[in-house]
Amino acid sequence: MKTNRLSPALEKALNDQITLEAYSSQVYLMLSCWADENYLDGVSKFMMKHSAEERLHMAKIIEYVQERGGVVEIEAIDKPAEKPANIYECFEAVYKQEVLNTEAIYKIVKLSFDDQDWATWNFLHWLVAEQREEEKLALELLEKAKLAGGAKMTDTAKFELNKLIANTSQSFPTADEVDPLA
Ligand code: FEO
Repeated sequence: MKTNRLSPALEKALNDQITLEAYSSQVYLMLSCWADENYLDGVSKFMMKHSAEERLHMAKIIEYVQERGGVVEIEAIDKPAEKPANIYECFEAVYKQEVLNTEAIYKIVKLSFDDQDWATWNFLHWLVAEQREEEKLALELLEKAKLAGGAKMTDTAKFELNKLIANTSQSFPTADEVDPLA
């Protein structure tokens, strides 16, 4: 009796998304370390927290694949791109990563629709809503960096932006609070 409720194509797409979420987490880790090296402690903490958020996304998709009787394949994660040259490039990298992730998720939504796999289609609504929030936040950060002077930002503007980002709320838990099985 077949107990895997995912089609092979959908199982593969969800596995690819697991790897992409892990890659996103690595990108945020790299940006957190870059910010720390550049005395931007607020930005560094923000990126570290967001890295944990991406791990949470990954864990939730793993849990979903398992729940549907699918098989999870843990793949190697690519090295993130080079560290940014400045704070504006840092937020550009965040925005690009979120858009890339959204586009990948949209493809899985389409696949689940074509497969008439309504359980997966319904599960993905959570991820689509999450991406909408994340793109909004990434765009706000990019616009703030642009207003503060973009790539030519002064040290004073960097200091103020760093403070502001330290106080930017993120609606997800810290790494310690993450329970992938919740
Ligand atoms: Fe898991 Fe930022 O999307």
